[in-house]
Amino acid sequence: MEVLLFENREELGKAAAKLIGQLVRKNPKLVIGLITGETPLTCYRELVRMHREEGLDFSQVVTFALDEYLGLPPFHPLTCRSQLTEALLKHLNAKQENLHFLDCGSPDLDRACEDYEREIREAGGIDLQLLGIGTNGHLGLNEPGSPFDSRTRVVELSEETKRYLSRYFGSQVPQRGMTMGLGTIMEARRILLLAHGSAKAEIVAKALKGPITERVPASILQRHPACTVMLDKEAASRLSP
Ligand code: PGA
Repeated sequence: MEVLLFENREELGKAAAKLIGQLVRKNPKLVIGLITGETPLTCYRELVRMHREEGLDFSQVVTFALDEYLGLPPFHPLTCRSQLTEALLKHLNAKQENLHFLDCGSPDLDRACEDYEREIREAGGIDLQLLGIGTNGHLGLNEPGSPFDSRTRVVELSEETKRYLSRYFGSQVPQRGMTMGLGTIMEARRILLLAHGSAKAEIVAKALKGPITERVPASILQRHPACTVMLDKEAASRLSP
């Protein structure tokens, strides 16, 4: 694992965007796994700036959203699809047909998850998977206890995740979601995990330095051959040198 430290979340976001920009320039058809939440916002702002001011071209880039909440009305502003569209995708020149989302409106959710796995395979696999980390160590909605070999599937959200999400959803917090599995994530050729803020310090230390265990889903990343971790000072504060 390569661990890179930054002064604050702005610098971290810029560095993440710079890396993504380099990879897109090298391979204009890059297949990227995208995340939602607070973590990627500074990175996405910088990518939008690079697109506008430096002509970074997304016209052939393919994206797959990591996860999605269930039980929200279509077009709800807090679906992962809406969040990604607003924060990033609508500001780029990516083609609609290259943007993949988990279909939370499907009448057959298990089938939709299988279809997603097929779409990822047909796209040639994920070149770069972005990841954040939950304070309980989850990746996507793979909560503690998720099997390391899990695939894209419907899951129950943990109490900790629901508590965290209530700051956005109020009393209407989703109970379930769809997520790429840990096995799916680990097949990405390259992984970029981002974390900022002191609330992530303890779990970052556990995930990076602790035992590899399904109780800490992100600890599986220690086994990935090409995982870069970008942290701000606060998120890195519990890592011993
Ligand atoms: P956050 O969520 O980016 O809002 O901190 C990360 C996560 O739960 O994976």
